[in-house]
Amino acid sequence: MPGFSTKCMLFPVALTLLSGVAARYTPDWGSLDSRPLPSWYDEAKFGIFVHWGVFAVPGFGSEWFWWHWQGEPTKAYVEFMKKNYPPGFSYPEFAPDFRAQFFDPDQWAEVFEASGAKYVVLTSKHHEGFTTWGSPHSWNWNSVDTGPHRDLVGDLGVAVRKRSLHYGLYNSLYEWFHPLYLADKKTGFKTQEFVSTKLMPELHDLVNRYKPDLIWSDGDWEAPDSYWNSTEFLAWLYNDSPVKDSVVTNDRWGAGCSCKHGGYFNCEDKYTPGHLPKHKWEKCTSVDIFSWGYRRTMHLKELLDLPSIIKDLVITVALGGNYLLNVGPTAEGMIPVVFEERLRGVGDWLRVNGEAVYASRPWRVQTENSTVPVWYTSKGSRVYAFLLSRPPKPTLELLAPITSPLTNVTLLGYSAPLKWSPLQPAGLTVTLPLESFFDGHVWILRLDSVL
Ligand SMILES: *[C@@H]1O[C@H](CO)[C@@H](O)[C@H](O)[C@H]1NC(C)=O
Ligand SMILES: *[C@@H]1O[C@H](CO)[C@@H](O)[C@H](O)[C@H]1NC(C)=O
Ligand SMILES: *[C@@H]1O[C@H](CO)[C@@H](O)[C@H](O)[C@H]1NC(C)=O
Repeated sequence: MPGFSTKCMLFPVALTLLSGVAARYTPDWGSLDSRPLPSWYDEAKFGIFVHWGVFAVPGFGSEWFWWHWQGEPTKAYVEFMKKNYPPGFSYPEFAPDFRAQFFDPDQWAEVFEASGAKYVVLTSKHHEGFTTWGSPHSWNWNSVDTGPHRDLVGDLGVAVRKRSLHYGLYNSLYEWFHPLYLADKKTGFKTQEFVSTKLMPELHDLVNRYKPDLIWSDGDWEAPDSYWNSTEFLAWLYNDSPVKDSVVTNDRWGAGCSCKHGGYFNCEDKYTPGHLPKHKWEKCTSVDIFSWGYRRTMHLKELLDLPSIIKDLVITVALGGNYLLNVGPTAEGMIPVVFEERLRGVGDWLRVNGEAVYASRPWRVQTENSTVPVWYTSKGSRVYAFLLSRPPKPTLELLAPITSPLTNVTLLGYSAPLKWSPLQPAGLTVTLPLESFFDGHVWILRLDSVL
């Protein structure tokens, strides 16, 4: 039976081709950059960033405290230490006071969920090198050996995943004062002792232990990606790691990579493009405009207020981005209540208006400013118009949408359809209900069946 044996021989070959299992990423940017971003990330739109580490103990200036005190000494930091600590005090001596005694991961996760965020990114290691988990490669400089004596990365991960939020980990490639890193730096990054004995074993361990959905890489800029072995790490991450199908990464993988290579693009901190980018991106920003880590000297006027946060989120999403909003918890493990209030405020707004945000797509037009500044998102032929300020009168013109006789206009959070009439050659006039002129932040019109 020659036909039968031919089939038998062909079958395994066909199966391999069809299932595509043969496709593996190679450790070069051409291959790695071709990986499609797992879809959960673009749909999520909004995440919470958490900067937590030993820097919360001095809680002064910013999470760059150690650097501003002893890396490139800055007057305010040097004086703060002179005034408040004995001579000879060293940065690692802050660690025992990083106690996290009030850290309740379920309470944090409840706040994050209530904010409407769909993912959370925690610092597993900032530039100070302290790991917020029991890294075997960070002897005595981790949250299990000292300070809280607790696996902060693990405990928060369990709590946020219980609420179906995605869990990401921030990791700084460089460590300001690590002796092996400084030795490599001295050779002009021709040696890779730090990468082979510290960074790579630690990163692999981090991924295998906690299976993060997102790796937020940072601290890459002093050395090229070839020094960090970033492409080798990413090829392993995408081909063979336990999170190969779900993990998302950013773009900070070596000097010159940012805004060019990796997963989605952060470009710079707090980056906002002026037009719709071709590549998925994320704006990270912080409620405390001066710091990512907790600062004991913060004042109310130095914080983003709720309307500013909502507007920033709207513009980011209309431009195809995700919005990652940062809070810095205290050394005791508390999220300052003023941050909590901001997060719950965003959540209250998203509960009414989230359908215009989650899983939306940028529209044909991103923004117009006829009556008031308006930003758009879309879901198929449904278009959402975000009014960023209260219109001066209850009639509003939108010039970009092309209406049809089937077009319906609704105000999110308001039950009855709105009266509207077409404009020539395109656009429409909408009559807003007077009772909707409440003290809102951003009003959203849903336009069904428009082009
Ligand atoms: C970096 O990758 C190269 C090429 O795969 C490999 O030979 C080398 O051992 C790696 N170095 C480190 C420090 O991981
Ligand atoms: C929108 O237009 C008004 C009136 O021309 C102008 O004052 C305002 O600055 C514009 N806003 C934006 C965001 O362009
Ligand atoms: C428009 O709204 C009306 C009333 O709510 C509804 O019956 C109709 O199906 C809607 N049409 C479209 C195209 O959504």
